[in-house]
Amino acid sequence: MRHPVVMGNWKLNGSKEMVSGLIKGLDAALNGVEGVDVAIAPPVMYLDLAEQLLSKANSKIILGSQNVDLHNNGAFTGDISPAMLKEFGASHIIIGHSERREYHNESDEFVAQKFAFLKENGLTPVLCIGESEAQNEAGETVAVCARQLDAVINTQGVEALNGAIIAYEPIWAIGTGKAATADDAQRIHAAIRAHIAEKSEEVAKNVVIQYGGSVKPENAAAYFAQPDIDGALVGGAALVAESFAAIAKAAAEAKN
Ligand code: PGA
Repeated sequence: MRHPVVMGNWKLNGSKEMVSGLIKGLDAALNGVEGVDVAIAPPVMYLDLAEQLLSKANSKIILGSQNVDLHNNGAFTGDISPAMLKEFGASHIIIGHSERREYHNESDEFVAQKFAFLKENGLTPVLCIGESEAQNEAGETVAVCARQLDAVINTQGVEALNGAIIAYEPIWAIGTGKAATADDAQRIHAAIRAHIAEKSEEVAKNVVIQYGGSVKPENAAAYFAQPDIDGALVGGAALVAESFAAIAKAAAEAKN
């Protein structure tokens, strides 16, 4: 059985006050919720504070981050290494988010290298894949996702996906309120899993595939009712403790 994972991507949002308020609120709202892994990825600047708050509260919330560099040290101005993320307790690291692919020109190959480097350093990659609106309209969704995944599979072997998380995020659904329907998302998740199964049925069966893109408390249960949707990567709704906790609870209820 795959264990559901709901992760909050806070993007470039936060302040010391907001981070403490949100973590405290979330931890309280998630009290007693079992059967789902809940992770948060605050801006890297707040990892220290987040780690302190989580450990003080003895919280089960997993700490994550939004990006990583390809080196553990050296002359790489502005970058953050896996070793640094680990030192601050972050384990689940988002890579290949469409905002980084678009604004920082990150290629499939570059993202695949980050994937390998995270694994080498014992961290969990949360690999974002997904198509643009134009690609969607051209019927290229599955081919785009397969190409993004193949950048990892063809260089590291399908077994590299063991223990990693895939987040299917149609770009047109991110931050737009225009979420994919649960049926459409299920169809793509099943196709992604089938693509992996061509290389290994075992890996395909076990890998967690999250849906992301305008997930809200109102639509979350419909996604989690689908057999191939194992959780969510949440942006906007992850910035409100009650909303994010409601999404996590919906996953726990649907999957247990
Ligand atoms: P959203 O963002 O939930 O605000 O659409 C999702 C994401 O970018 O991971």
